Amino acid sequence: MSKVALITGVTGQDGAYLSEYLIKKGYTVHGLKRRSSMFNTDRIDHLYQDPHHENRNMILHYGDMTDSMNLTRIIGDVQPDEIYNLAAMSHVKVSFDVPEYTANADGIGTLRVLEAVRLLNLTSKTRIYQASTSELYGLVQEIPQKETTPFYPRSPYAVAKLYAYWITVNYREAYGMHASNGILFNHESPLRGETFVTRKVTRAVARIALGLQDMVYMGNLSSKRDWGHAKDYIKAMYLILQQDTPDDYVISTGITTTIRDFIKMSFAEVGVTVAFRGENENEQGYITEIDEQKFSEVVGEEYLERIKERIGKMVVGVDPAYFRPTEVDILIGDNTKSRTKLGWEPTYTLQALCQDMVIHDVELMKKEEYLKNGGYKILNYFE
Ligand code: NAP
Ligand code: GDD
Repeated sequence: MSKVALITGVTGQDGAYLSEYLIKKGYTVHGLKRRSSMFNTDRIDHLYQDPHHENRNMILHYGDMTDSMNLTRIIGDVQPDEIYNLAAMSHVKVSFDVPEYTANADGIGTLRVLEAVRLLNLTSKTRIYQASTSELYGLVQEIPQKETTPFYPRSPYAVAKLYAYWITVNYREAYGMHASNGILFNHESPLRGETFVTRKVTRAVARIALGLQDMVYMGNLSSKRDWGHAKDYIKAMYLILQQDTPDDYVISTGITTTIRDFIKMSFAEVGVTVAFRGENENEQGYITEIDEQKFSEVVGEEYLERIKERIGKMVVGVDPAYFRPTEVDILIGDNTKSRTKLGWEPTYTLQALCQDMVIHDVELMKKEEYLKNGGYKILNYFE
């Protein structure tokens, strides 16, 4: 009998990689998808099977984290061995705009899943993974951060996730549920949402290299993040649920980098050297040099003349509109526990991750639909 997993947030970055990973392991994967006016399944289209397909191993259900009744019905119908609760309004800056909704979906949504499992008498059958976050550390109380570091959330998103973290611990202790938190530090990939900083940067680098846009406006360039590859991090989620006893784990690389350095790394992937001058909102990044051979190999010789005209020109500016009311200045995780207890370790270096994303975005932007300027709006309209 194959194991049955239910993934909330199946259409997101992690949901897509996790679905693929579990299907390869022989699982039947059920995914919770909220209704939208357009298909929103790009990341999982290659896995989706038509309802008329026999012996499906990927099945989608309409549902929403804000609707207890549908969550309870779906969990009752699916009778999952494992639930991966990944659904969330996951953008920190946007959570300041929609704080009540974020609390409902990210905080109370987790309670709804746990309570459904309890009410359906599935506590001894169903294991639960809760997508907790390094944002819980916020105004960090210790460097690096580990499982015992006190939390100090700095956004409505992080406060909602704090509730989700503790309600997961509480249901584990109160009802003996196999419920665990993965405290995941930032993880990125070519599937990363376009408005998170790494993807915003790699998309912009690709478009600037192809001459589709002149520059990009960013927010705080000095904050530091511990970035890993989502493909590595979803393996940790799986491992957490395979343990005999539930527990909470930090998943991180242990290396932290500024946004500014990630921008420089991303331009370097296309052979463009960028230097910064000025401070705070007056800081600017401009092109100092071009490695013509590398640029030609990665982007194409036909784009070389145009980018050479940009030497000495500004390609990165700062717009305070992207600053957050309260910022998380530095995140760096100590992954000793996950290494020793789960046997997990990251396989991608930051450079390999950056290269994966930049090359993907150069190819993506070369496709006709992006050449029509369609992707540009997204960069400027959101955070
Ligand atoms: P993501 O790409 O933003 O995906 C979020 C998923 O949640 C999407 O499938 C989204 O559906 C769904 N969703 C949002 N609100 C919902 C609602 N009310 N009802 C049902 N589904 C809803 O996020 P991700 O990067 O994959 O992250 C997965 C989880 O890990 C999130 O909980 C996030 O907070 C957490 N996390 C992420 C990171 C990271 O660095 N990526 C680190 C730590 C923790 P749509 O596709 O319809 O929007
Ligand atoms: N999004 C964005 N856009 N961030 C920017 C920009 C910009 O133009 N300029 C600078 N930043 C800075 C932010 O201020 C923040 O310090 C850092 O880049 C990272 O921002 P995001 O990529 O939006 O991620 P995040 O760290 O706020 O949150 C992500 O990681 C968390 C785990 O630590 C999300 O995936 C959360 O869901 C996740 O919990």
